[in-house]
Amino acid sequence: MIKSYEQLQWEMDIIDEFIEKAYEGLIIVDQEGKIIKFKYERLLDVKEEEVIGKHVTEVVENTRLHIVLKTGQPEIGDIQTIKGHNVVTSRIPIIRNGIIVGAVGTILFKDILEVQHMAEHIDQMKRYVKKYKQDLKRLNVAKYTFDQIQTKDRKMQATIDLAKRTALTNSSIFIEGQSGTGKEYFAHAIHEASYRKYGPFVKINCASIPESLIESELFGYEPGAFTGASHHGKIGKFELANGGTLFLDELNSMPFEMQGKLLRIVEERELERIGGNQRIPLDIRFITACNEDLLKLVKEGKFRSDLFYRLNVVHLRLPSLKERKRDINMFANQILTTFSSEYPKCPKFFSKEAMHSLESYHWPGNIRELRNIIESAINQASGNTVTVAHLPEFIKLDTPNVLPVETPEAGNLKSIMEQIEIKIILDTIRQANGNRSEAAKRLGIHRTALYKKLNKYET
Ligand SMILES: Nc1ncnc2c1ncn2[C@@H]1O[C@H](COP(=O)(O)OP(=O)(O)O)[C@@H](O)[C@H]1O
Ligand SMILES: [Mg+2]
Repeated sequence: MIKSYEQLQWEMDIIDEFIEKAYEGLIIVDQEGKIIKFKYERLLDVKEEEVIGKHVTEVVENTRLHIVLKTGQPEIGDIQTIKGHNVVTSRIPIIRNGIIVGAVGTILFKDILEVQHMAEHIDQMKRYVKKYKQDLKRLNVAKYTFDQIQTKDRKMQATIDLAKRTALTNSSIFIEGQSGTGKEYFAHAIHEASYRKYGPFVKINCASIPESLIESELFGYEPGAFTGASHHGKIGKFELANGGTLFLDELNSMPFEMQGKLLRIVEERELERIGGNQRIPLDIRFITACNEDLLKLVKEGKFRSDLFYRLNVVHLRLPSLKERKRDINMFANQILTTFSSEYPKCPKFFSKEAMHSLESYHWPGNIRELRNIIESAINQASGNTVTVAHLPEFIKLDTPNVLPVETPEAGNLKSIMEQIEIKIILDTIRQANGNRSEAAKRLGIHRTALYKKLNKYET
């Protein structure tokens, strides 16, 4: 169908309008650089009719459209100064059948400042996203369940069983264990296994809040309750945890004065916000945790005994990793498996000596520390096996020099002693990555004595 003149005119008008709205400015030139389209009124105070047919260099300062006609190379996102503004422009040659027949210049931003503003805007959006991600993390929900708490240790299994049973009651639970033994995991899992699991799980670390703020954090306050208080007031953690579980971590750091106030909440199950006079009923399950011997603090008069007994209805003691030797092996292998499922090049095994070192170390940071050490060893290992060479020095130093010694072959006592001696020496050298001076130091003998013994063995 052949279009009528009116229809073509109408379509052209639409395209014209689109061009005007889409770009801050637009120029089309023919192959000689003469202007055939000019939508530049927003930048230059010149009408299209006045410039049609003129060479572009006569009309637009610093133009390069005539150069693009020669090079045939597009110039995208260039900065051009027009009337004192640094505009962001693009120049594209129009090519028909391999011949340059013209060029289009468009202005994308009237001022480079607009680009900067946009970049700042994007930056700000990124910051918002980051903040919301953090907020989401802080949302009051429990993240771990009993399925994630694993053990091969009998004592630990008994603790898990007790925790599972008491999760179903409303009794206050006190968790005692060194840092990194899994106290927080337990608190989450207990909440998840309780009938409160659809209620909030609120955590507060008593050690991380300044003493002067802990009361308002816990109790909340009415608008303008004290100087510096927000106009809107604040909901405290007790209220936030209503209907759910409140996990008070590092309870030993609770200031003495606050202990009395906490005791009243635990006993009366009612709350009054700071500066308020309304009593709010509370339905909270308390889980508390501490990595110090709290009973010792009670005996020293540093922690209120009445509060301690109120919170310590069920006592869970999490054994340290040192006490759970079988778990060291299990966790180490688990971590390796997790890594190798994500990274195919990751090592698959621990050498016997490396595992022996891991099992002998005293792990003051418990599972948290074990995770870190293994992660770092995995990153260092390039082959199939994590060896002692990939473990930090302090772990190797902690390893007893004697590896389990197989029963030596029969012989007289002297030869048996020699066999054991050389095994210890060789093991120590291996643990010292072949460094004989270091091995001698660890064995407490002089380097020359070590060489002498080795010579005897090798001849
Ligand atoms: N039973 C477990 N199974 C697997 N990982 C655990 C277990 N217990 C603890 N972890 C690991 O140890 C880290 C420390 O646990 P966490 O509960 O925060 O210890 P705590 O509160 O006693 O310092 C956790 O982030 C987790 O990686
Ligand atoms: Mg913790």
